[in-house]
Amino acid sequence: MHDFQPKTIIEPFRIRSVEPIHFTTSAQREAALQAAGYNPFLLRADDVLIDLLTDSGTGAMSSRQWAGMIASDESYAGASSFYRFEAAVRDITGFKHVIPTHQGRAAENILFTTIAKPDDVIPNNTHFDTTRAHVEHAGAEARDLVIAEGRQPRLIHPFKGNMDIAALEATIEQVGRERIPAILLTVTNNSGGGQPVSMANVRAVSAVARRHGIPFFIDACRFAENAWFIKTREEGYADKTPQEIAQELFSYADGCTMSAKKDGMANIGGFLAVNNDELAAKCRNLEILTEGFPTYGGMAGYDLEAIAQGLYEALDEHYLRYRIRSIAYLGDRLTAAGIPIVQPTGGHAVYLDAREMLPHIPPMQYPGWALNNALYLLGGVRAVEIGTVMFGLQPDGTEQPARMDLVRLAFPRRTYTQSHVDYLAEVILEVNARRESLPGYRIVWQAPVLRHFTIRLEPLGG
Ligand code: F0G
Repeated sequence: MHDFQPKTIIEPFRIRSVEPIHFTTSAQREAALQAAGYNPFLLRADDVLIDLLTDSGTGAMSSRQWAGMIASDESYAGASSFYRFEAAVRDITGFKHVIPTHQGRAAENILFTTIAKPDDVIPNNTHFDTTRAHVEHAGAEARDLVIAEGRQPRLIHPFKGNMDIAALEATIEQVGRERIPAILLTVTNNSGGGQPVSMANVRAVSAVARRHGIPFFIDACRFAENAWFIKTREEGYADKTPQEIAQELFSYADGCTMSAKKDGMANIGGFLAVNNDELAAKCRNLEILTEGFPTYGGMAGYDLEAIAQGLYEALDEHYLRYRIRSIAYLGDRLTAAGIPIVQPTGGHAVYLDAREMLPHIPPMQYPGWALNNALYLLGGVRAVEIGTVMFGLQPDGTEQPARMDLVRLAFPRRTYTQSHVDYLAEVILEVNARRESLPGYRIVWQAPVLRHFTIRLEPLGG
């Protein structure tokens, strides 16, 4: 038989356990959204048909992960499940100290509480909302230094998550090394469109950090997806496995924070990993105070097992090819229909450019929020605004437009099939056809930080 190279990229799994999804009428959705203060975060999940709020902790686990969970060790201290978890994290990241946490932001809290102080500056390609909030909670400034290409939604560039090295050097020059306790790099760059960072850029950031004696940390949530982009887009990596690429990437850093709810393929969990002994000791002390004993850190033994297995499954080539292709498939359909999205599509989500799509809604009337609510009202689809509601409120209480007003359609891992994606495309196309009739929004109530989670709004014009 001749070798057959199929064009169809299939889901690399079969489904053995199913979960019904809930259909609603448009009148029911209207009532549900109104009761939720027009905030999709406050909807009941049962009122959502296709839930793309986040890819965080929402994926399907494998039979191997469940098998590990059944056989977990729930000892308070020194559980064998911890040692399996620690071995997996060390194998993939190479970092010496592995500090488990209940999720990513707990690792951020421990790290920034330990290293950052008022007037410090922490550069990153782009801080995710929880990362920014923890940096600011420690009194420091979170500075985003993504390359200029990363801020232009329509521009095609293979590594739009890259750090602007000249801007990083200028920041160090201006601020002074002693006020920069760490340099961060988020892979992939979630807030900038799930865009990858190249190995060359990781190397360059690392070189700058080392030259100035500044610790360098990776926000590693989507490290496996980033590895796939390096494999398929960067010269010299086509023949390396995603795991080898990930190992190289981590080798340039001094540590990482991780939400295992993403490329850990788990429903909960995370870790902080560092090489420095003194820093690890300080972090473990704080962890005992806030998370738990350092061999479980806020997780059950079965969570540690799910992650120990999940980290490797996230690096599987068949999985990554299907994963990245299913996002690009939706992106291609929307692009063909002339709908503005962040180009090229990223690793875990398609980002609609609401500011471009809804020019009649100014940023201070929240076009991203308006678009997300329209997707729900029309098709029962829940996504998330990444724009002026999420980022517009400044630490001093003033408000300004975010750099972009996007709607992120994040794909839970191994959860929806191609027909779900076809339905999704149909809903987005129909909302686009009706776009001129969509209203802007006004804020009715908000919290002083991370306001998007609990904010209440109302549509303008009744
Ligand atoms: N860093 C990045 C880049 C993230 O995307 C997230 C979470 C975190 C840190 C925090 O991790 O949720 O486990 O505490 N992002 C989710 C999302 C919530 O929807 O993108 P966590």
